[in-house]
Parts: sequence; C-alpha cells; structure tokens
Amino acid sequence: MHSAKQRLIFPLDLPEREQALRYVRLLREQVGVFKVGLELFISEGPDILNAIRGESDAGIFLDLKLHDIPATIKRALKSSMKYRPLFVTVHCDEGGGFLRDIYEDTYSETRILGITVLTSLDSNKLMRGGYSREYCEDIKSLVILKAKIALDAGCHGIVCSGHEVAGLRKELGQEPIVVTPGIRPLWSLVPGDDQKRIITPSEAIKKGTDYIVVGRPIRDSEDPAESARRVVQEIESAL
Ligand code: C5P
Repeated sequence: MHSAKQRLIFPLDLPEREQALRYVRLLREQVGVFKVGLELFISEGPDILNAIRGESDAGIFLDLKLHDIPATIKRALKSSMKYRPLFVTVHCDEGGGFLRDIYEDTYSETRILGITVLTSLDSNKLMRGGYSREYCEDIKSLVILKAKIALDAGCHGIVCSGHEVAGLRKELGQEPIVVTPGIRPLWSLVPGDDQKRIITPSEAIKKGTDYIVVGRPIRDSEDPAESARRVVQEIESAL
C-alpha cells in the first residue's frame, strides 16, 4: 500500500505563494501530499497548483470543502478536476449517488472525500448548532451517519478525527479512504489550539486511517523538516 511518506499530508495554510512554496521546498522530501485550502487558493488562484507541481512530485489535495446544492457541487467538482488534484473535499448532506456520474464521461484520478464532523467541534458546539442530544452525546454516531451519506453520494472516502476511525472501519470496512486531521505528536505544542478531538500520528495509523494531516506541529516548529521527518518515522513504526 502507501509508504509512510505518502501518508503524510501537509496543509499549506499560508497566505501567499512564496511562503507556501518555501514550505514545499523545505518539506518535499518528507511529505506525500500538499493540501491547498481556502486561504491560499483564494489569495493565489489556481496557478498556485502548477507552482507547487513545479517544485514537487507530491500529490495535491484541493481542500475547498464545497458546500452547496448537488448540481452546483457537481459542476464545481468537474471544474476542479481539470487541475488533477489527488483529493477534493465536499460537505455532503445528501446521498443518492449524485457524485457518481461525474466519473461516467471522463476518467479522473481525483478522489472525492466527504467531510464528516469538523475536528474543531465538540458536544457543546454541536448542541448550540442544533444537533439532537443523541448525536451531541455520541459524536461517533454522527460521524458514521455523515460518512454513510457521503459514501452513498459517491464519495471515495471521508475526513474524520482519529477518535472515530476505528468505529468507522468496523462499520464501513477497509475500502473507503480515510483522512484524519487533528493530529498532535506528543512532542508538539500548539498555543491556543482550536482542534478538540486530537490524537497522535501513531494512534491514528493504528486505528486504521490511511492519511494524516499535520499542519501547525510541523509549520510552527523550529525545524519543520525535522518535525516532518519525526512524523514520518512515527507513521512508519505504526504500520
Ligand atoms: O494540524 P493543524 O491543526 O494545523 O491542521 C489544520 C488543517 O487541518 C487545516 O488545513 C484544516 O483545514 C484541516 N482540517 C481538516 N478537517 C478538519 C479539521 C481540520 O481538513 N476536520
């Protein structure tokens, strides 16, 4: 399957091109996939994807977390596929296979991931957001519900926190791709951390995730390349 390096996703959560490319150059030996999110994509536009490709052979994860009516999501996804990302993300509240016909007319290597429950959310925030007590008290069941809807819509995989991976694998088997953010190596400290449902790289891999997203523990460390190396080693030893 994938090597430890291929399983490490680094989010380029940076405001502009030169800063992002600096991290690509710094981390390309350690990182399998670079994630471009809203901040960088909105500030630099699609050219940033070619610029990253010019510096590295890593996969590109276009993490725009699209959220709209199915027809609009489908059209936006088709447009995004011309950039040949490895992964794209959608919020999927409707199943019914609406994403499947995207793959009918054209071959695409792009894999669509459904967002389940953002890792910054906890029971209190979900409660305030109007979710029923049953789901707020048992976030894992909400994640499984959202994952099932996403897979039913035609997603190839899902994004979820490390705490939900084992339950998801049990319920949905080995086939769906699972990507896990909210990763904190034991040696990392992120001041004022907004991630609530965090887990270490090795725990996440042992529980059955395919890819981990590690941002601030690498980006904000004194030696990002060395920190990424430590994460890859930790993945390696957990495989
Ligand atoms: O490791 P760190 O917390 O810095 O990672 C932040 C990254 O993880 C951001 O790019 C954010 O979009 C992403 N993320 C995600 N899905 C979540 C939570 C965070 O893709 N559920």
